[in-house]
Amino acid sequence: MDYTEKISHLAGLIKKSSYTLALTGAGISTESGIPDFRSPGTGLWTKFDPVKVATVSALKRDPAAFYEINLDRWTRFTGVEPNAAHYVLARLEREGLLRGVITQNIDGLHSKAGTKQLWEAHGHLRTCRCMDCEQRYPLDFLVNQFNKGTNPPLCENCGGVLRLDVVLFEDPLGEDFTGAVHAMDKCRLLIVVGSSLTVYPVAALPERAAQLAIVNKEPTPWDDRAAVVINEMAGRVLTDVLAALGKI
Ligand code: APR
Ligand code: ZN
Repeated sequence: MDYTEKISHLAGLIKKSSYTLALTGAGISTESGIPDFRSPGTGLWTKFDPVKVATVSALKRDPAAFYEINLDRWTRFTGVEPNAAHYVLARLEREGLLRGVITQNIDGLHSKAGTKQLWEAHGHLRTCRCMDCEQRYPLDFLVNQFNKGTNPPLCENCGGVLRLDVVLFEDPLGEDFTGAVHAMDKCRLLIVVGSSLTVYPVAALPERAAQLAIVNKEPTPWDDRAAVVINEMAGRVLTDVLAALGKI
C-alpha cells in the first residue's frame, strides 16, 4: 500500500471500529518543539542514561543532583503549544470517532488541545508532593524554591524533600494506568502515535487491542502485528486521516 492507500485504510478502520483509543508517546510532541527520548541523534536518552538520571533511587540518593539534571527539561517546555496531531485527536473525540487518549507524555498538550478522556500513564507536571508527609503543592512551589537556590526543594509542612508527580523509572504506575488498562479491555482499534513502544508496562498495552494501527517515524516492535503502519510525521498523517474521514 502507498501512503494514500494507507491513509484511507486507517480512516476505514476508524469508521468501522466501535471503540477506538489512541496511545501516544513523545513523538506526537516533537512537532511542538519538545525533543523525544529515542530518536537517533536528537532523543534525550541518546545523550543521558535514563537509568542514572530519572530514577527514584537517583532522586533519593542525591536529590540536589537529581533536580540539577532533570528539572530544566521538565519545566523548559511549559509555554509550548499543541500541534496538528494533538488537535486532530481531540476533534476525533468530539466527532465520536475516538473514546480517548492514553499518553506517556507529561507535557499536558493533549488537554491543551481539548482531549477530554485522557489517561496520563506517566504522570504530569501540574503538582508535586512531599516524600515524607505526602503533602501536595502546585509544581511552581517546587520550581520557585529551586530558582531561588533552595535545592532540593522542601516541604513547608515537615521539611521533607519534594518530588514531582511524574512517574520515574522504578515508580509504580498510578491509577491513570489502571484506568487505561480497563479501557483497553473494550478497545477494538488502538492507534499508536509517536511511541517507540519500548517502555513497559505501557508497551504491553497493544496486546489488548483487537486491531492495531501505528503512526511512527521509526519502526516499532509491534509493527508486524499492526493492520497498518505509517512511518510518516504524525501531524501530516492525522490531518490526512481527518480529511479522509470527510471532517475537513
Ligand atoms: N511523527 C511521528 N513519529 C515521531 C515523530 C513525529 N513527528 N517524532 C518522533 N517520532 C517517533 C520516533 O521515531 C520514536 O520512535 O516517536 C517515537 C518516540 O519514541 P520515544 O522517544 O522512545 O518516546 P516514548 O515512546 O514516548 O518513550 C516512552 O520512555 O523515557 C521514558 O517516560 C519516558 O514516557 C517516556 C517513555
Ligand atoms: Zn512534608
